Amino acid sequence: MKKIIIAIDGFSSTGKSTLAKQLAKELGYVYVDTGAMYRAVTYFAMQNHWVSEAHLDKEQVVQNLNKVQLRFQFNDVLGFAEMYLNGVNVEKEIRTLEVSQNVSRIAEISEVRAKLVQQQQEMGQDKGIVMDGRDIGTVVFPKAELKIFMTASAETRAQRRYQELLGKSQKVTYNEVLENVQQRDYIDTHRDDSPLVQAEDAVVIDNSDLTREEQFTKVLALVNQKIR
Ligand code: DC
Repeated sequence: MKKIIIAIDGFSSTGKSTLAKQLAKELGYVYVDTGAMYRAVTYFAMQNHWVSEAHLDKEQVVQNLNKVQLRFQFNDVLGFAEMYLNGVNVEKEIRTLEVSQNVSRIAEISEVRAKLVQQQQEMGQDKGIVMDGRDIGTVVFPKAELKIFMTASAETRAQRRYQELLGKSQKVTYNEVLENVQQRDYIDTHRDDSPLVQAEDAVVIDNSDLTREEQFTKVLALVNQKIR
């Protein structure tokens, strides 16, 4: 069977990572969550007080990018790779609403994107990879054999993210989460560098009314067409 690159792009909280993890497990592929990389750089900038809701010191972020070392390490118990920032596991820290509120502005910085895209391309050299993000099928792997573009209504996505954050005992309201989802949609689709757009050859999956299983079955059929 042929090894391929599967690129999954789409709006935030559309369940990209759930699908990507399912596929990676089924196929024995490596899963890379590129959002975690942008989140880790954001967390680094927050720790150094270069970004907050009110301010962004872009120059400092860019000048200190060489001090950011990112690594994914597979966790056998969880069944996926966790993000390490300068040797420290930051998987929990990068998933907070505060990081979500700052990440789109960090992801707008071209120097940040260039560094992370290069690392992502290196990870895909041997194929056999499922990568999710916003620009995977358009910028990182424009020649990926299978491209999926995921979407769902903002309300459906906010509800899912809200439940997820509650499950992690984070104190948030549904409206805060909905506002964050809408803000990120806007910034992600309007930024100058690598905005979120659907690749021409991507297959669109709107999962507003699909269960996880239905979605997985649908995409696995597409994968099988490519690898057999
Ligand atoms: O997938 P996520 O919600 O964890 O991503 C966090 C943010 O990172 C998202 O708002 C936009 C940005 N991002 C990006 O610009 N490009 C990617 N390939 C992945 C994420």
